Amino acid sequence: MNHFDFVIIGSGIAGLYSAILARKHGSVLIITKGSIEDCNTRYAQGGIAAAIGKNDSPTLHFKDTIAAGDGLCDKEAARILVNEAPERIAELVRLGVPFDTLYGEIALTREAAHSVSRVVHAGGDATGQHIEVTLSNLVRSLKAQILEHSLATRILVKKGIVSGVKVLNCHTGGTEEFSCRFLILATGGAGQLFKFTTNSAVATGDGLALAYDAGAEIIDMEFYQFHPTALHLPGVTPFLISEAVRGEGGILRNIKGHHFMPDYTSDSDLAPRDIVARSIIHEMRKTKSDKAFIDVTHLPAHTITTRFPNIYHFCREHGLDITRDLLPVAPAAHYMIGGIKTNIWGETNIPGLFACGETACVGVHGANRLASNSLLEAVVFSKRIIQRASGQVKIEEQATTQGLADMRTTLSRRQAQRKVPPPRLAALQTLLWNKVGIIRNKEGLTQAADTLASWQKLLPQPTTRPTYELSNLLLTGRLVVEAALLREESRGAHFRTDFPKTSPQRQGHLVFNKSTIHP
Ligand code: SIN
Repeated sequence: MNHFDFVIIGSGIAGLYSAILARKHGSVLIITKGSIEDCNTRYAQGGIAAAIGKNDSPTLHFKDTIAAGDGLCDKEAARILVNEAPERIAELVRLGVPFDTLYGEIALTREAAHSVSRVVHAGGDATGQHIEVTLSNLVRSLKAQILEHSLATRILVKKGIVSGVKVLNCHTGGTEEFSCRFLILATGGAGQLFKFTTNSAVATGDGLALAYDAGAEIIDMEFYQFHPTALHLPGVTPFLISEAVRGEGGILRNIKGHHFMPDYTSDSDLAPRDIVARSIIHEMRKTKSDKAFIDVTHLPAHTITTRFPNIYHFCREHGLDITRDLLPVAPAAHYMIGGIKTNIWGETNIPGLFACGETACVGVHGANRLASNSLLEAVVFSKRIIQRASGQVKIEEQATTQGLADMRTTLSRRQAQRKVPPPRLAALQTLLWNKVGIIRNKEGLTQAADTLASWQKLLPQPTTRPTYELSNLLLTGRLVVEAALLREESRGAHFRTDFPKTSPQRQGHLVFNKSTIHP
């Protein structure tokens, strides 16, 4: 059978949760370019934020979300996020996700920029892994069809409406088409744009590139979130050291042993991520080092090993005992805040095309995502997609009122530069890290924009998974760079030394589409 009611691309929390809900309303096909377990969700440590604690409320969660978002959150979407959070957690519990408990209640931890402890977790710091295993087992038992090692390469659109998707079999190189009523993109982010990232190798902007090519609008791409603390060891892929480690009392020191965060902000080690990441970079530059340290040696060893078993064992395997040793850390690319523009029902501007999870941007994160709001966003808006697609909810209004102005734009046409070598993934990642990373300016952004445009022209027609991934990353990178150039201010995760202040005149969104200029 090549026709399905729902085709879902991606097998992280957004894809799997959508599939479980969609299965009640029709046939479901999940397409994933690796095996079903290959996704970023698996690596999520911190957890899911929800106002379920006694001293908490959705209003307080809303306030923290809006404050982190630095003037760009869509308030209607953020209100939905925090109001629907407790019910989504209850549903995950019903589905079997084994969240940690304390005295019979779900245990809550604190993360940066949350005013109270409100982050639920599983297996200590193995939240993503537990969610992934629980949901993928359920999907298998529900007889949703799963097509592994298959990469979606084109969205098929007939008379302006999504009709299906073209897929590459990554093993045989053959292609196949599937038709559907609803196509849901849940492909995750694009951390592989950067030399240092906490993301897995699958995070290559695939859904974003597919949607852009099909004519979908892309929003807020200049806001790429860098996690302040990834383990920094020579030759070891960056490994996330959860913000919850600081939430439980961990502190940051520079290589001279100085606890530096109080020098930057009264929120100290629990300031919003962008501030902590930039402070670490400043300290690294000041001390001429490529790292800082996170110190938990003052906490009881038992607390560390039971609360962070994953981190403890990973560090142990690399010769570090976190109960005694300081952990070398540095910032790394972590989360794509912008993405495929959707309304509060996960709909894009193309009828039949939905997006959820990291590849989507409904506006809940604004310019800077509050910790542990991402898995939450995935479940809240996946649910709403299925409600909308299955006709459970009839809506009058077509789109969320993005509270602030949108500035529509297209990728600039840039002159090809001479003597540019053919693009390679490592060169792309180094370029983005150096010129489009945590601290940006016009000169570096312009160099990056010109180089990416030249590379894009040199890129042959992709035929294999790696060549498609490189092509998707190039397009995603161009969208990030062009947006970063256009936003002449600093706000949230976007910081420019040539425009170091936030400008009230620029409190709007940059929306790209490919309507006139082709890259
Ligand atoms: C973390 O555990 O620090 C990551 C959580 C998140 O990105 O929301």
